[in-house]
Amino acid sequence: MDIFEGIKTRRSIRKFTDKPVQDETIDKIIDAGIWAPSGLNNQPWKFGVIKENGLKREIAALTRYSKIVLGADTLIAVFLDHSRSYDRIKDAMAVGACIQNMLLTIHSLGLGAVWLGEILKNKEKVLELVCSSDDVELMAIIAVGHPEQKGGAGNRKDMDHAVLFRK
Ligand SMILES: Cc1cc2nc3c(=O)[nH]c(=O)nc-3n(C[C@H](O)[C@H](O)[C@H](O)COP(=O)(O)O)c2cc1C
Repeated sequence: MDIFEGIKTRRSIRKFTDKPVQDETIDKIIDAGIWAPSGLNNQPWKFGVIKENGLKREIAALTRYSKIVLGADTLIAVFLDHSRSYDRIKDAMAVGACIQNMLLTIHSLGLGAVWLGEILKNKEKVLELVCSSDDVELMAIIAVGHPEQKGGAGNRKDMDHAVLFRK
C-alpha cells in the first residue's frame, strides 16, 4: 500500500470479529512503533500486550469505551518511559508518532484499530492492573483486531482551515 493512500484510508475501527491476531503480527506492529522518530533518538516508549479476557474486563470497567476493549482481540498499552524521558512535550510527541506508525501498519496489514485516550482518566488504575513499574505512564491503549466494519470515508476540514499562512 502506498504510504499516502494508507494515511488517507486509515480509519478508527471499533468493531472486531473473533478471529485472533497472531503474536508475530503484534510484534510487527510494535516494531513499526519503535521505528518512529524521537528527540535525541531517546525512544521513550514501552508497550504492554494484553490478550487475557479477565484483564480486558478489568480494563473495560475503567472506560466508557468498554465494548471496544472487550471486543478487541489484543490491547496494546503504550507507555511513556520516564527513565528515558528528557522533555515531556517532545517525548509525548514521539509516543504519538510511534502510535501513528502502529496504526498505519495495522491498517496496511488489513487489520483494524482505534487509539483509546479517554481511558487515561484512569491511567493510574490501569497501571496498577497491568504492571508494577512506577517509572512508566500510560499514554494510550490501542485496541486491535480483525475489522468487522468497513473504515468509511472519514471527515476532515479543508486544507484552507489548517494552513495558517503561506509566505
Ligand atoms: C489522542 C486521541 C485519543 C482518542 N481517544 C479515543 C477514545 O477514547 N475512544 C475512541 O473511540 N476513539 C478515540 N480516538 C479516535 C478518534 O476519535 C478518531 O481518530 C477521530 O475521530 C478521527 O477518525 P478516524 O481515526 O477514523 O480518521 C482518539 C484519537 C486520538 C488521536
